Amino acid sequence: MADEKNKVSYGTGVNINLKGKTALVTGSSSGLGMEIAKYLARTGASVAIHYHSEKQQAEQVAAEINSNGGKAAVFGGDVSSQSDVQNIFQSIDEKLGPLDILVNNAGIDGKRQLCGEDNPEDWVRVIGINLMGPYYCSREAVKRMKKNGHGVIINITSVHEFLPWSGYTAYCSAKAGLSMFTKTLAQEVSESGIRVVSVAPGAIKTPINKDVWGNPDTYRDLLTKIAMPRMGETKDIAEAVTFLVSDMASYITGTTLVVDGGMLLYPAFKHGG
Ligand code: BGC
Repeated sequence: MADEKNKVSYGTGVNINLKGKTALVTGSSSGLGMEIAKYLARTGASVAIHYHSEKQQAEQVAAEINSNGGKAAVFGGDVSSQSDVQNIFQSIDEKLGPLDILVNNAGIDGKRQLCGEDNPEDWVRVIGINLMGPYYCSREAVKRMKKNGHGVIINITSVHEFLPWSGYTAYCSAKAGLSMFTKTLAQEVSESGIRVVSVAPGAIKTPINKDVWGNPDTYRDLLTKIAMPRMGETKDIAEAVTFLVSDMASYITGTTLVVDGGMLLYPAFKHGG
């Protein structure tokens, strides 16, 4: 006879439930991070909303979650500063409890500058936020997750972990570096119950690329670079992240899930070649 406990019902849908989990999403006062934080809160996780300069926006995100039955608290600091990161993690320990999920989302494109005509300080800043930030946060997370015997770290990379992008050597180098960080860290912690996965968004409509989608000419040009006939929406990324941090993805580690509507499919080849 079938065990009652293992009985499945068909046609009722499948559920992702993160109740009892604590998640930190860096850079969650706007854009992708905000949507990811809201999705994780919808699935039941307690969410640490992190901001660098947009305190009021972060508080609004937390207020929206808290007033709709979820749980969120706000934490400020610069992810490229090791001491700020240590303080953020300590406050999360105190306010929300042990961390189960880290989403390294905070990032900047930086200015478009050709190598040699650029300012090395800008390069260092992009690497600081996009690569050192995830490293500092991951090392704090791993220390805690090892004690708990489980955890998931998601690194938001970009199609530019694969695709070169003139004028953005720092950005592309940081994202490619972050991809290799994902793989190496995943290998290191594979026996501690910790998974590490990259999510590589394509062109998603957020404030980061507003100057491109906000102008009809550059918007038209951008669409020629995507196989599907649209830009991505923040929910496209948030849903992928929600799946990856759940137990449904429990055998996925050390790899990149590309969510780009086919930007990496060389769409120019649709017409000749
Ligand atoms: C960048 C966006 C850009 C997209 C596609 C992302 O990683 O942050 O500004 O639109 O890549 O090129």
